[in-house]
Amino acid sequence: MTTRRDLLLQAAMLSALPGLGFAQTRGLTLPLEPTPPCGEQAVPTPEQTEGPYYTPQTPQKTQLREPGMAGIPLRIGGLVLSRRCRPVARVMVDVWHADANGQYDNAGYRLRGHQFSDADGRWQFETILPGLYPGRTRHIHVKLQPPRGDILTTQLYFPSEPGNARDGLFDRRLLVQMGGDDTAKIARYDFVLDID
Ligand SMILES: [Fe+2]
Repeated sequence: MTTRRDLLLQAAMLSALPGLGFAQTRGLTLPLEPTPPCGEQAVPTPEQTEGPYYTPQTPQKTQLREPGMAGIPLRIGGLVLSRRCRPVARVMVDVWHADANGQYDNAGYRLRGHQFSDADGRWQFETILPGLYPGRTRHIHVKLQPPRGDILTTQLYFPSEPGNARDGLFDRRLLVQMGGDDTAKIARYDFVLDID
């Protein structure tokens, strides 16, 4: 459901991102509401299946979108938090997703990469909106590996996708907050690890 407030947020976001100058912004500037919740009603981010297309030992990079790559530019980021809402630094955030045609690169590392959350728990990638492939709604795969503790494997989903209702793996707790338009998207998700 899109509220008036969402629309205002989107408008503010677009004006804040002239020419998609994402790379100039080292800090996380995603003026979207955080995804729920840590604190008293903490819900650790649900785990999901890894699926068949994970490739280990991805390159460390935040820029997954390559020059000339088809697809709508997507800046996606957020925080890594503990159950008590403390930012968690040095968490390896490893993502992989399909290209605009719904294809995974299973030979190399196109649209695959990892980075580490910073001292404030922030993570962010510049990529494209994943394409669709048969049997699944639109999604991004993620693995989070904290300095101590277990790896969390999950997937992120996008709001207002017709395929969400038809995908048995879809979990609305894994929906990103989304903004932007048909030329560029911005998304936020705050992971909540099952640690204090
Ligand atoms: Fe997938």
